[in-house]
Amino acid sequence: MRKNKRAETPQSHFSKRAPKYDASARWVCDEKLISGIRALARPRKTSLVLDLAMGTGRIARAFKGRVKTVIGLDACARMSLRSRRYVDCLVLARAENMPFPDDTFDICACRQGLQFMELEQALSEIRRVLKPGGRAVLCHLTSYGGEDDKTAFLIQRLRNPARKNFFSPGDLARAAGRYFLGVRTFEYLTRESVRNWISNGAVPAGARARIMRIYKNSPAVFRKTHKVRFKNGDVFDSMRMEIITAVKK
Ligand SMILES: C[S@@+](CC[C@H](N)C(=O)[O-])C[C@H]1O[C@@H](n2cnc3c(N)ncnc32)[C@H](O)[C@@H]1O
Repeated sequence: MRKNKRAETPQSHFSKRAPKYDASARWVCDEKLISGIRALARPRKTSLVLDLAMGTGRIARAFKGRVKTVIGLDACARMSLRSRRYVDCLVLARAENMPFPDDTFDICACRQGLQFMELEQALSEIRRVLKPGGRAVLCHLTSYGGEDDKTAFLIQRLRNPARKNFFSPGDLARAAGRYFLGVRTFEYLTRESVRNWISNGAVPAGARARIMRIYKNSPAVFRKTHKVRFKNGDVFDSMRMEIITAVKK
């Protein structure tokens, strides 16, 4: 796993992205991915669910009405105000220091949040607020590992300067294994239009142009692994996500 020590704050970055967020990547509203995450969480009618780093609430929305209570937490007011209708309670706080008692939740789902957090603190907090036997479901973008890391991480950093962590396959499972039992990993591929992905309101023109140049000059191994295609001035990239499920002892 690589680190970015000079990351922009998520509050500043996501305030700029909030208005266009839901359209900024195909995976955001991908119902197959979202229902897969919900199924892996094994919700019951009686479950108390935390959507951690809920953003505009697409994950919370999938649980609403199917479980007893959905609570959403996010550090960015402008993002989370858009998800008010999907949660029973909206909490503005940092994941590294959650204002919940120990052993509160049956399920904690976190999609695309841990890359912006102090990873060990966030995982420790997820464990603390889950009930014994509670399930964590963590879904995040990763590289394919090894030969595409350098190019993938460079693109990810330019596209999102708030990113603190860059994940390779296995990084999240290893980290989760320090806090949870029964860690399992599932792969999910999402085919993204890069032009759309970088037109999210928060990537400056210079960085957008640089990302396009990086794709054009990318090493063959990166193009092959990511199935990169150029079409009508756009670039298409098959990005890899990992979904980790884990249980609190
Ligand atoms: C890429 S969005 C993901 C939103 C949502 N989970 C989804 O899957 O669509 C990342 C979210 O993480 C939030 N975030 C970043 N760092 C955070 C932190 N330390 N504590 C809580 N939320 C954080 C941001 O404000 C943003 O809403």
